[in-house]
Amino acid sequence: MASAGSANEKTITEVGTDRFGFDSRVKTDVLRSLYLTPAFVKEGDKESDMTGQGHKDYGTESTFIKETNSIQYTTVAKFPPVKLLPNSERKRILVTGGAGFVGSHLVDRLMLLGHEVTVLDNFFTGSRTTVSHWVGHPNFEMVRHDVVNPFLIEVDQIYHLACPASPPHYQYNAVKTIKTSFMGTLNMLGLAKRTKARFLITSTSEVYGDPEEHPQREEYWGHVNCIGPRACYDEGKRVAETLTYGYQRQDGVDVRVARIFNTFGPRMNPYDGRVVSNFIIQALKGEDMTVYGDGSQTRSFQFVHDLIDGLILLMNGDETRPTNIGSAHEFTILEFAEAVRDIVEKVQKEEGIANPKRVGIIHKDLPQDDPQRRRADTARAQESLQWQPQWSVRQGVEEMTRYYYRQLLEGKI
Ligand SMILES: NC(=O)c1ccc[n+]([C@@H]2O[C@H](COP(=O)([O-])OP(=O)(O)OC[C@H]3O[C@@H](n4cnc5c(N)ncnc54)[C@H](O)[C@@H]3O)[C@@H](O)[C@H]2O)c1
Repeated sequence: MASAGSANEKTITEVGTDRFGFDSRVKTDVLRSLYLTPAFVKEGDKESDMTGQGHKDYGTESTFIKETNSIQYTTVAKFPPVKLLPNSERKRILVTGGAGFVGSHLVDRLMLLGHEVTVLDNFFTGSRTTVSHWVGHPNFEMVRHDVVNPFLIEVDQIYHLACPASPPHYQYNAVKTIKTSFMGTLNMLGLAKRTKARFLITSTSEVYGDPEEHPQREEYWGHVNCIGPRACYDEGKRVAETLTYGYQRQDGVDVRVARIFNTFGPRMNPYDGRVVSNFIIQALKGEDMTVYGDGSQTRSFQFVHDLIDGLILLMNGDETRPTNIGSAHEFTILEFAEAVRDIVEKVQKEEGIANPKRVGIIHKDLPQDDPQRRRADTARAQESLQWQPQWSVRQGVEEMTRYYYRQLLEGKI
């Protein structure tokens, strides 16, 4: 797994860029302090500190009380310092789905950069805890709202993310998923039209379906089964893109379309059946890792901080065509499982477990319509945004393993 990154790869101390008049640079340690937050485990009258990294002053603290199987949250002592921007540079930014996995990282970044952020979320798959460290901050607002209903607010930019993204969640209520994709996008485009806000939608590589072209360029029209179990999501996103360009052509709305490929990172829902979280959690719990099919199907994975860089660049650059944001490195699922197993063992040893259990790899039947190959052609993002991923899969998996390790200790998974 050569492209997963080697042991001597460079340490990443800063994410973001200063391009297109939008300085999105943030220290990695500050971001990390928001998801590797201080946590404690209380057993009897003994309290052990699971802090590791993280910053004691920022973010919420949680104490898991083993005896009563309860969790005690402590709200922030101090907010992390945010940039002081002049009024002319400070933007009012709406993030729909801002309490979800990707949304919460985007919110962290936009808040640290000094903007005014409003999160709109119905908490279907997201959780208030992902952004609770910002509640009460004068630049932050959180609204419980379902995007299938109209919403009015004055904003400069809209990042429209609201939509369940993992198969068990989007298939749970397929009709609602289609409604969210269609009506939610219609409402947010209507808002962008009224307020003249710039609008960015997070579309997906699923619009390419089970692709006959490899890797997938943005010009490829896709190969989607319109009545299969994934259609509510795939076709929902396709029509959301159609609407987006309809509003651009008809009403001059300033639009951006990101086609996101598989992304992973801390705060990803541990139970949503996505391959990276499945593997890490199974390995951390000492259970055998499940590979569907023979494991020869390939995937490419990008780390969430790289995706956020790409979304911010796309929003603030001039590229209005759909733009793939994803990793161009492709692994077979079996190779990936083996790499995750090694990384989890390494993290466990660093956390003081002398002889972590070596878990096995078992195979199960492939689900219906599971794409065989998926890899982004990112030439457009490289040319027009000068974007390319800087996190290796190995670095990302390590970061995510540390996050899940703490969640397990705290009794949250
Ligand atoms: N994570 C990935 O690998 C990936 C890949 C491709 C595309 N995307 C896209 O990125 C976006 C975010 O994905 P994610 O992985 O963070 O998923 P997620 O499920 O963690 O987040 C989605 C958020 O939207 C909210 N939401 C869902 N329906 C809503 C509704 N009707 N009204 C208001 N809020 C609603 C959820 O509560 C959640 O907070 C989605 O649009 C998804 O399609 C993600």
